[in-house]
Amino acid sequence: MDKLHVKYSVDILDELTPTLRTIVSNFRTSVPDINGKIRTPKEEIIHQEKFCSDSDIKLWILVFEKNMLIGTTAVYARSIKYNGRNILLGGIGKVRVKKENRGEGIASAMMEAAMDQMKKLKCDIAFLDTNIDSFLGKFYKKYGFVPLNRPYTFLGKSRKRYSDTDGMIAQITSKALFTEILTDSKPFDIGFGNW
Ligand SMILES: CC(C)(COP(=O)(O)OP(=O)(O)OC[C@H]1O[C@@H](n2cnc3c(N)ncnc32)[C@H](O)[C@@H]1OP(=O)(O)O)[C@@H](O)C(=O)NCCC(=O)NCCS
Repeated sequence: MDKLHVKYSVDILDELTPTLRTIVSNFRTSVPDINGKIRTPKEEIIHQEKFCSDSDIKLWILVFEKNMLIGTTAVYARSIKYNGRNILLGGIGKVRVKKENRGEGIASAMMEAAMDQMKKLKCDIAFLDTNIDSFLGKFYKKYGFVPLNRPYTFLGKSRKRYSDTDGMIAQITSKALFTEILTDSKPFDIGFGNW
């Protein structure tokens, strides 16, 4: 057992109880981003429009210190069409650590668990979106993620189509698909909702 697990518990849950759902939701709206900012209500509405994939969450990775939630990560998976066939797209989102506990290896422990779970789910590849130019680009590279280096598209809750450029993908079970998607030139369509 490593140092992290002595001090904290890392729980992997396939669903949240109503109480945990409230705790996770409060955590997400009260814990600041890497620039110390908390989303304004207006930003939260835009976020909810674009990041509307909660029904694709297969697992939650929650870290507790005693009984207090200090870290969250969601593991997603959904079937999407890519070049005429169905593929299982895995994903990582809602990676967040309580400000006072940052720099203690908590996100690293959650990412290790998340990568392991996406293998168990037999995802072909994984996708995430992040601020690639910040330390986060380097952080996710440690787990096999590389910048997509071209736009990806998705539908929002309103069914409006969005395009963004900060996507990263990682090989999970299919090296061939990972290479094919990386070397393709069309925007990568991730389906309904960003994560
Ligand atoms: C990003 C975040 C989850 C990192 O959590 P954490 O528990 O502090 O991360 P770890 O302690 O496991 O550190 C992971 C790596 O990132 C580096 N790192 C962490 N915070 C850093 C910072 N502010 N500046 C530079 N590097 C940093 C660590 O040095 C470590 O590098 P290493 O693996 O080479 O040793 C946390 O800062 C956070 O919750 N941020 C707000 C939400 C967010 O932006 N989430 C990411 C969404 S894509």
